[in-house]
Parts: sequence; C-alpha cells; structure tokens
Amino acid sequence: MELNELQQAMLAGAHGPAVKKAMEILTALGKIYAARRLVAVASVQIAGVSYDNLGEAGLNWLTEMAAGGGKARVLTTLNPAGMDIENWQALGIPADFAAQQQRVIEAFGQMGVVTTCTCTPYLVGNLPRFGEHIAWAESSAVCYANAVLGARSNREGGPSALAAALTGFTPEYGLHLAEKRAPGIGVAVHVTLNGSDQFGALGKWVGERIEQLPQKPVPYFSGIAGASLEELKSFCASLATYGGVGLFHMQGITPEAGLYAPPPAAWQFGPAELAEAQVAMNDAADDEIDFVSLGCPHLSLLELMHVADLLRGKTVKKIFWITMARPTKQMADRLGLTQVIEASGALIAADTCCVVAPIRGRFHALATDSAKACYYAYAKNRMKTRVLPFDDVVAEALR
Ligand code: F3S
Repeated sequence: MELNELQQAMLAGAHGPAVKKAMEILTALGKIYAARRLVAVASVQIAGVSYDNLGEAGLNWLTEMAAGGGKARVLTTLNPAGMDIENWQALGIPADFAAQQQRVIEAFGQMGVVTTCTCTPYLVGNLPRFGEHIAWAESSAVCYANAVLGARSNREGGPSALAAALTGFTPEYGLHLAEKRAPGIGVAVHVTLNGSDQFGALGKWVGERIEQLPQKPVPYFSGIAGASLEELKSFCASLATYGGVGLFHMQGITPEAGLYAPPPAAWQFGPAELAEAQVAMNDAADDEIDFVSLGCPHLSLLELMHVADLLRGKTVKKIFWITMARPTKQMADRLGLTQVIEASGALIAADTCCVVAPIRGRFHALATDSAKACYYAYAKNRMKTRVLPFDDVVAEALR
C-alpha cells in the first residue's frame, strides 16, 4: 500500500506509540482489503463505548492508547455508552459499572474525542457533507451517512475507528470507492409506509434477504413516495442490523439514486410482506410488557417534542426509557420538555440506549417502535418484543 511521508513517519513511530499502533492497524486492514492507499477522513465516530461491550480488556487498550499520547486529529464523537453519564442512578445502573464506564469516557476525553455519546451524530454536529470520506463505526449511522448524506464510510470496528481518529486516515476500499456504491439488486415497494416502525419492518424484511446473498449487493428501492429523517434513521438501523447493509439507494429520496439506472426489481414488498415482518417482531403478549423504550436510533428533537406532547399531564405505568444524545436533551431542557416528560414518570436517558445499557435480566418484554431494538432485545437480553407505531409505544407506557 502506498504511504505518503506523513503516514510513513506515523508508522515509524515519529508521532508516538499510540499513533504508531494506530497506523499499524490501518495498514494491516488496508492489506487485508487490498487498498491502494489511505484517504484523509473528515470525521470519525467510534463504537464499542459501553463498558458492557468493552469489558476490562477494551478499557485497558483505551487507557494504553491515551497514555501513548494518542490525540484525535479530526472531529471524533462516540457511540452510546452503557449509562446516562450524569444521571445513571435513575436508570438503576450499578455503581461499580458506572465507575468503569466513567473511566472509558475519561480515556476517550484524554485523547481529544468529543465525549458526546450517540448513534445519531449527524443530528448533533458531526455532520459530513456529500462525497466526504469518514470513518464511522455505528452501523445505523454508517448506513445513514452513506445513503442519506452521500458521505463515504465503511463500517469500522472500535479499534479501526480509533486508529482513524488518531491519524486522520482510513484505508481506501469498499464504500470509499465509487464502483462499490452501484446498486446490485432492486426492491419494488407497493405499500405506503408510514412511521419509524413500518420503515423498520421494510429494513428487516430486505436485510434478512440480503444477508442470505454471498455478494451482499447494494439495494435500490423504488416506489417509496417519501420518507422523513426519522423514518430514514429507523430504516437505516434496521437494514444494517438485519442485513449488514452499509449503503442503499432510494429513488427520488437519496442523493446518489439518480446516478444509476434502477436495477430490475428482484423483490416485491407489499402489504403481505409488511405484515410478515411485523408479526415476526411481536412475540410478547399484551400483559407481558414491562419495559418501554423510544430512541433507537437516538431521538431527534422533533420526536422528543412529540413525546412530550403525548405525555403532558399524564402518568406512565411502566418503566419507560426515552433515549437521545446529550445535546438533544440540553435543547429539551431549554424548551421545558424535560420537565414535562419527567413529571409523567418517564425516564430521560441521555448518552445511552436500551441495547447497550447493562439491563439483562431486569425486564421480560420490550415495547418499542424500533426493529433494531427488537433484534437486540432478544439477541442480547433475551427479551420478548412488541413493535408498535411511535404514538402507540407512548400509549403502551401509559397503559
Ligand atoms: Fe443507537 Fe442503541 Fe439503537 S446505539 S441504533 S439506540 S441499539
């Protein structure tokens, strides 16, 4: 792989041990994927932030990189942590977990990483523009950045994202290359989709089918009349979770769709397929639901305003986590929404989510609007699930 003078110096250790280690990771990755060179990245988003996923080995590695003089060279933010950094007690997070999580955040902070913990960095200031190379790790955000924003990112692992942050480079392969962004399979949608839950169901149905194909083609969707930011973020989370998809095109909606002739529609998605996907996420009976959550991916301010409207003057009957980025919560504070939500008994959980927090064994069944949350509620926490339209999730918390 070609390395310029700066990259060679980094690899030789001239910029300190952490940068040397980072460059070793990137060059090894580049060799595996036959990258010709490294490209400069405009921003980084690091996953593997929750101590629940990192464990002691991960924390030690971060501490070592921080001690080795590692400093982020580009705007770098974090994925959700295992707790609300300021209000973890209210979520029932054990104190020993909180102490370790705090050390993780401190290690990132020491490396100049912006310790905003969110899977929707594009809502709170880490917003790449069309065509920019980035190195992001959270699968839903990678899909959103590629497909909706037209930026270019592979799905990085925790170490390779940190390595990109400390050097400002990533190997040029996969979705950084124009030829890898062309659609390979068509999906015709014959049903009007409304809401985050229905877009999530489409993502699940298509993702599961792509997962079966060895080439993992980029899907091209036709027949969708419109999609809001919130619907697209739910769709991206679902498609990435069930199919490992990092990029799709949606005719008339996403920026690169017009560059390509739509491929023949191999798959048809109508009312029957929508119902099939929804039924598969609904194994919890009405009286089994004991945990309700919105904010997977993290809520937009618009969604938060809507939740506050639905909760105003009411009292929730179930444990209800509403998850978002810290800056979104700060806007909610100023708008008086936090007070309204907290007065209802619902819990505002900034910095974290119902998947990365250590909640295994605490709850039996989850109600949510998110297909991705359903997947992990079962896979990680062995919970039953019920996927509902956004407003019905709030109603479930009040029931
Ligand atoms: Fe974000 Fe957690 Fe869902 S990281 S996409 S809220 S699983």
